[in-house]
Amino acid sequence: MRAGSVDPGYFVDLYRRESDPWKFASSPYERDKYAASLAVLQPHYERALEIACSVGVFTRLLARRCGSLLAIDPSPEAVECARKRCAHLHGVTTRCGAVPDDYPEGMFDLVTFCEVGFYLVHDDLIETRDRIVASLRAGGQTLLVHWTPPVQGHAASAAEVHQAFALHPELRAVAHRDAPTYTLDLFGKVTGM
Ligand SMILES: C[S@@+](CC[C@H](N)C(=O)[O-])C[C@H]1O[C@@H](n2cnc3c(N)ncnc32)[C@H](O)[C@@H]1O
Repeated sequence: MRAGSVDPGYFVDLYRRESDPWKFASSPYERDKYAASLAVLQPHYERALEIACSVGVFTRLLARRCGSLLAIDPSPEAVECARKRCAHLHGVTTRCGAVPDDYPEGMFDLVTFCEVGFYLVHDDLIETRDRIVASLRAGGQTLLVHWTPPVQGHAASAAEVHQAFALHPELRAVAHRDAPTYTLDLFGKVTGM
């Protein structure tokens, strides 16, 4: 991880102080945003990766659409919470890790990259984007959702994150939604490149 990205240690400390800092488990805003995300996704993905799973609220919803789902986050507390939240579900694996350094091995049909890209400085963002695209099977998809109002301390804006993916030659837009405070893009990996 390069200088300029938000240090994963910041999130490790944050979850030690607060079990659910963004109130993912109880916020109507997050519930509606997750519903909007699920609405653009396919009914089923064989193998999915969720980057930045936090406490596993979206993980639990997404798992019902996936044969297997690997969910990662730098915070051990958050990962343990996600593991417990999804313990009753088949095929969910949780692991500590931060992108781009800990990008998992393997190929996926779906990679979600939501509310996390703005913590990465440009070169880390591009490295992560390229790892995501390389790990997508032909026809695979990547979902991005990011808060749009400016936030002090973020390394990039939502627009910069989504634009970086839009410019990748192997990605094509599948769905786009603009809400008052977030933007959502689903990209598909083009076949035959
Ligand atoms: C605002 S929360 C978003 C959680 C979830 N993706 C969602 O949309 O509900 C940001 C999460 O990103 C995680 N995170 C921060 N930097 C990361 C990195 N470099 N790699 C993976 N996850 C990271 C944090 O630990 C935190 O759980």
